[in-house]
Amino acid sequence: MRKYLIIAIDGPAGSGKSSTARALAKKLKLPYIDTGAMYRAITLKAMRQKIALNDTKKLVETARKARIELKGVDPRKQKVYLDGKDVTKAIREPLLTKNVFYVAQEPLIRREMVKKQRAMAKKNGAVMEGRDIGTVVFSNADYKFYFSASDDVRARRRYRELIAEGRQTTLEEVLNDIRRRDKTDLERKAGPLRQAKDAIPIDTSSLTIEETIDMILDIVKR
Ligand code: DC
Repeated sequence: MRKYLIIAIDGPAGSGKSSTARALAKKLKLPYIDTGAMYRAITLKAMRQKIALNDTKKLVETARKARIELKGVDPRKQKVYLDGKDVTKAIREPLLTKNVFYVAQEPLIRREMVKKQRAMAKKNGAVMEGRDIGTVVFSNADYKFYFSASDDVRARRRYRELIAEGRQTTLEEVLNDIRRRDKTDLERKAGPLRQAKDAIPIDTSSLTIEETIDMILDIVKR
């Protein structure tokens, strides 16, 4: 028997996982683990080293050498470190976001990441978000949630975030990006985005973050 609590949250980009998971972790005093940030950090390392992203061997080597740490007690202010340097902002760059799928589709890299994610949650439990948490990383999680929202709502959320960051884009471009990411997330052979059979589905299209959190807290407290 595990002595620590694991809450798994999976779903596509823009479904509200991050904001909800962070707030939930804070409320429940659990560590927050953003697994997407780990795939992003490896992509950053490969891009900085100018490695061809379709060179599997080099990519796997890069991943094996990368030291990724998630730091900070407050989940809303968590920082991502790569080889000892703060890369929290750099891993959110739009070009990098487009390139993460190369790393995410490599079975050997996923195996390393899954091992690391399990180890990270071993001590104090976690609210862990990603694509394969309920299906692969913690298929025995105490609670599993699968978030979804319409393409349109997800694109609008992401568009608002990008504009607030001062980036130039259009809603159409963001929508196309989201659809492209959905396709690669759903179609990759290793760790594809799937709803675990025992996951509770939550459609966040017409829910606020607070409403989503309340819904989950109701279930967890029961
Ligand atoms: O959640 P995010 O958008 O930051 O994730 C970045 C990318 O990493 C996303 O394109 C899918 C991939 N990912 C994954 O393959 N498995 C996870 N557990 C989390 C993210």
